[in-house]
Amino acid sequence: MIMIFTGAGLSAESGIKTFRDNDGLWENYDVMQVCSTEGWEADRALVTEFYNARRKDLKDKIPNPAHIFLGELEKKYPNKIYNLTQNVDNLLEKAGCRKVVHLHGTLTDLRCEACEHIWDVGYRPQDEYEICPQCGSASIRHNVVMFGEAAPAYQKIYEAISNCKLLIAIGTSGQVIDIVPISREFSHSILVNPKREEYVSDFGLSDTYIDEYFTYFLQMNAGKAVPEMLEKIEELLSNI
Ligand code: APR
Ligand code: ZN
Repeated sequence: MIMIFTGAGLSAESGIKTFRDNDGLWENYDVMQVCSTEGWEADRALVTEFYNARRKDLKDKIPNPAHIFLGELEKKYPNKIYNLTQNVDNLLEKAGCRKVVHLHGTLTDLRCEACEHIWDVGYRPQDEYEICPQCGSASIRHNVVMFGEAAPAYQKIYEAISNCKLLIAIGTSGQVIDIVPISREFSHSILVNPKREEYVSDFGLSDTYIDEYFTYFLQMNAGKAVPEMLEKIEELLSNI
C-alpha cells in the first residue's frame, strides 16, 4: 500500500495560495483569525465571509499535473492507496480521485453545529438564513477544521502508517502535521518540495537530516516532479 500525504504546495500551481509562504497570511487574512476557534468565536460573520470567498474562488480552479498524476495513480493501484490531504480544496476530486481523506475538512461543504450533519453546497456562499437540512438548526458553520478543535480524520494517518510500505509527501511544510516522524515509519519514502529549508527544525538539526529520513527528496515543484515521482514509485514498489 502507498500513503500519499499532501499539503497546500500540491495546489499552489493551480493558483491556490499556501499558508506559510505568505508570512502566515491566507489570502491576506491572518491564518489564526480565520482558522482558529478563538477567531471563530470572536467574529463568526468575518470567518463565514472568508470561507464564502474561498469557496467562490475555488470554482474556476483546475487540477494541475500533480493532481492529475495522483488521480492516475489511484486508478493504477486500485485499493492500494491512502490518499490523505491537508487541503480543503476539491482539486484531487476534480482530477478523478475517489477516495480522498481530507484531514482538515472540505471547503465545498457546510456543517451543522447542532447535529454535525455535513452537506455539499458546491461553490455557493452560506446564506444568511441557511438551516440544517437534517435538523433545521440555524447554527451552521464551514466544514474546515480550525486550530483548537479536534481533527477526527487524523485517525486515518495512523491507519495508513500501519498499512503502507511507501510514503509520498508532497507540498507540505510539516508545520502542522510533522512529516519527519511519519517518514521514520517508512523504509521507502519520497518528499516533494521546492524548499529544503522548510524542514530545518528549530531543534538545530542540520538540513541534511531530511535526506536521512526520505529515500528521495525531489526538490522541485510538484507539477515538475511528476515524471520522477512515477519513476521512483515504480522503483521503490519493485523493492517492497
Ligand atoms: N510544489 C510543491 N510544494 C510547494 C509548491 C509547489 N509548487 N509551492 C510551495 N510548496 C511548499 C512550500 O515550500 C511549503 O513547504 O508547500 C508547503 C506549503 O506549506 P504550508 O503553507 O505550511 O501548507 P501546509 O503544510 O499544507 O499547512 C498545513 O496548516 O494552516 C493549516 O490547515 C492548514 O492544512 C493546512 C495546514
Ligand atoms: Zn443539524
